Amino acid sequence: MTDYSLLARQLEALLDTRDWLTNTAQTCAFLMQEVGELNWAGFYLHRRPQTLVLGPFQGKPACNPIPFDKGVCGAAARRLATQRVDDVHAVADHIACDAASRSELVVPIVVDGRLWGVLDLDSPRPARFSADDQAGIERLVTTFVAASDLPSLN
Ligand code: SME
Repeated sequence: MTDYSLLARQLEALLDTRDWLTNTAQTCAFLMQEVGELNWAGFYLHRRPQTLVLGPFQGKPACNPIPFDKGVCGAAARRLATQRVDDVHAVADHIACDAASRSELVVPIVVDGRLWGVLDLDSPRPARFSADDQAGIERLVTTFVAASDLPSLN
């Protein structure tokens, strides 16, 4: 089982600047290294109204942009709630960037009540993300937010 308390401490130590761009890049590289069975980890940023724009990521080139009314990322942005999908093939409007992806976890990043972006993790294993993984990744997003200056991007 992944030790998210340890990962939170390691991520806090890694994020030694307040710069949001540096910290997004470091965070997705860290997740790709430390969380097992991922094929994609990255940020989509709320840079345009009702639209997510691709930010720093690790994995194959990805879909861009994503409107709020499309896909799992769009649902997280719209609902301001984490989306945990065991089987992406069962989601009618899932956006398939990499055919290898089978399950997905998308955590919204909310600053002062406004959506700043989302963190998206994809796995080639169906049902890769448990409720414990969701809580752990949400904790890591909190660590990222606390470590970074996150100006409005739109
Ligand atoms: N599958 C996502 C799109 C982003 S990629 O997985 C990197 C979605 O349906 O929102």
